[in-house]
This record gives sequence, structure tokens and C-alpha cells, in this order.
Amino acid sequence: MTDASGYCPAVTVQELVANSLERRDFFRRLAERHGSPLYIIEEAPLLSRAREFCETFQALMPDMRTFFPVKANSHPDLLKTMVTAGLGIEVSSGSELELALAAGAMKVLFNGPAKRADELDLALTHRDRVTVIMDSATELERLEAAAAGRGVQIQTAVRLSVPGHGALWRKFGIDPSELPDFAERATSCRHLSLNGLHFHTSWNMTPEAYVANLRVVGNCLQRLTGETRAELEFIDIGGGFWPASGEWLPTPEPADGVAAGQGPFYTTEPAVPLRRFAEEIYQAFQEYIAPHLQCRLYAEPGRWICSDAASILLTVLDQKSDDLIITDGGTNIVGWEQFEQEYFPVVNLSRPEATERPCLLLGSLCTPRDLWGRSYFGSGIRCSDLLLIPMQGAYTYSLRQQFIKPLPSTVFIPAKYGGQQTELGTT
Ligand SMILES: Cc1ncc(COP(=O)(O)O)c(C=O)c1O
Repeated sequence: MTDASGYCPAVTVQELVANSLERRDFFRRLAERHGSPLYIIEEAPLLSRAREFCETFQALMPDMRTFFPVKANSHPDLLKTMVTAGLGIEVSSGSELELALAAGAMKVLFNGPAKRADELDLALTHRDRVTVIMDSATELERLEAAAAGRGVQIQTAVRLSVPGHGALWRKFGIDPSELPDFAERATSCRHLSLNGLHFHTSWNMTPEAYVANLRVVGNCLQRLTGETRAELEFIDIGGGFWPASGEWLPTPEPADGVAAGQGPFYTTEPAVPLRRFAEEIYQAFQEYIAPHLQCRLYAEPGRWICSDAASILLTVLDQKSDDLIITDGGTNIVGWEQFEQEYFPVVNLSRPEATERPCLLLGSLCTPRDLWGRSYFGSGIRCSDLLLIPMQGAYTYSLRQQFIKPLPSTVFIPAKYGGQQTELGTT
């Protein structure tokens, strides 16, 4: 069903393929105008998703605030769209902070381990807009010294490390048991105010991790002094909300690398709808946080907001056999070997049909690890065909890299054109 902006969210692979085929002329005109390979970002889905995310949580917690993480997609027009939609921005480096400021963000959370001196300095310069989420006691000392050196004050929060994500995640934040000592040190720092607590977990198909983490934060709050608690204004539960379409995975790789027989050539792992995330997080907030603290909930959804806002267009340049084609673009466009682990439908816009057929779809990088997929939707596949890979908005544009081949052009389609216009769009 199409929403007011003209955007039609797809939840299943079949729906996504049907939507892509319906909009075939639009994508073909974009390829004619801007060439191939092409990265297409659309504003309508971004606005629609941002609105839905905020409204779903704000229906339960009206003063809740949403921050879009730049790492999920750093396109400047996309960030401006987020700011215009009323979201804050979350950054994890000085260069991301510069992007957020250029996009006009008035409220920025600066996260990330081991921030450099110049990055802390940039945060201090823009302290009217930036809250630094401190990652350790060392960082607290460094930020206090830098702020004292300038004779200014800055708002801060602290990241709490959370269990369950494995040893490598120990690099993030402080152990919750250290919070009382950390807060005492922060209180003695005259140039910082500790206004928030933060945690983040990734790949959440259910609200379970948020509920568990809010329980941990609730326990911590009981051990803080009244003075510290009085300063806390927000609890930031991070990102990690998986879209309701769920996780799509390729079926196991066949011995010769080519899928055989009939599709589907993917499996799906369901995720719960956003409303359930919101309801259970709200209940946990009431149970664990509200008895100790009146404060706001912050969240930092990336994938949930931007995953279906972008697509990649490719052209078939070579065909080695009926079951092996090579496209003009390589997977440097998405920056890593994403399609070995995740599945996204590849839709042949030149031979439209909603039937999935086996074929090795490879990019043109001079490396064998350059895979787009092992199947496509269409009535056949030949040289010069135009292929579309939808759902490429999250962790692709920001990860793209100049490796062997140059970066592709990018076109941004403003929402007012409802995805029907090709004359517009900025590259
Ligand atoms: C601190 C922080 N916040 C938010 C996000 C966004 O996560 P997602 O895109 O899964 O919502 C990330 C992603 O790694 C993160 O590290």
C-alpha cells in the first residue's frame, strides 16, 4: 500500500520485486540520463520511515528524540533530509561531525571509542550543538583538560558496555559496575556536565536486548548519588532495530557455485514490527528507569530508516555462459563482500518477470570475491540488460570504496517528485 508521500514499503522479497518492476520505466530513464553503474537515493522513503519511527515511539513517549547515525548512510542530501524531518544526528568521528554540521544539524551526539584530540576540539568548538558520549575514564580526563584549556563547558554522556555481543565489543564504553565511580569523577570536572547514559546493540530482531540493557541501567541508577541523577536528562538506547522485512539470507552455496533448480534462493529470518519494539521498550523504561529518574528516551536507528531508500543499477557487460554474467560495476560500490552473507533480489528490468532464475551474477573487479548474487528475477538475462538491486540504503553508500574501479555516480531524488521524475535529481 502506498503512503501519503507516494512511497510504498515492501516487506517481502516478492513485494519488493513487484514494486521494482512497477517502477521499471523510472529506473530505465535514470540509467539513460545518469549512466550505469548508478547509486539512487530516494527522499520519499526516508521521510516516510523517519516519520513512522518517531511517531511510533512518540505515541508512547512524546518527548522521545531520534538521532540518525551517519555511519548508516553519509550522503549529504540524505543527512539534510533527516535534519529537515526533525531528527538529530549521531556521529562517530570528526569527519562525520563535519558532515552533520554541514547538513545543519542542531543536535548532535558524538560517539565512538578513542576520539582524537582534534575531534574533541571540534566538538568543543560546536559545544552548543554537540553532546560528547564519552567512551572511557581516560576520555573524560582528556575532554575535561581540553575544555578547561579553552575555559568552556560541554554536555556529555557516557557509553555503557553491554554483555552478549562477544569479546570484541569490550572496546566500547565502560563496564556498568564502574558507573558510580565514573559519575563521581565527572561531578568533580568543572567543565563537563554528565547529562546522559548510552548503550548500543546491533542486529536486534526483537526488543529483548533493549529490555535487558534498560534493566542494567536501572540497577546502575540506584547506585548513583542524587546529585548525579539530577543532572541526567536522557537514556540513549542506540540503534540496531531490524526492519520488519527481516533478515534475508542466501541459500547455502552449491558445490559448483551455481544455484540449481527452482527458487526461492533465499531464506528469511523474521523481525518483529516496530510497534512491538516501542511497546516493550516503553514498558521496560517505566519499570526500570522511571522509578529513579525523570528523563527522555533517545534512539539512534540507522538501518531501520534508510535501508529501503536506495538502489543500485548495473548493466550486464559480459556473459560467459547461460548461468554466468558479469556486470559493469563491482562490489566496491557497497564496499565489502556483502552478498556472500546477505541476500537481496536482483531484478532484470530489461526482461521483466517475477520469476527467480539461477545464474551467477558477478561484478567486473579483477577478484573472484565480487558477487552480486546467484539468481535474478526476469524471463532471461543477456548482455546490455539493466539490473536493479533494491534495499541498498544502509551500510553501502558509506562503505563504498575506490578499489580497482572508480566510485559510481549517485543521484538523489527529492520527495516532491514521488519517484516518477527523471529530469531531476542531483549527482
Ligand atoms: C553507536 C551506534 N548507534 C547507532 C548505530 C546504528 O545501528 P543500526 O543501523 O543497526 O540501527 C550504530 C551502528 O553500528 C552504532 O554503533
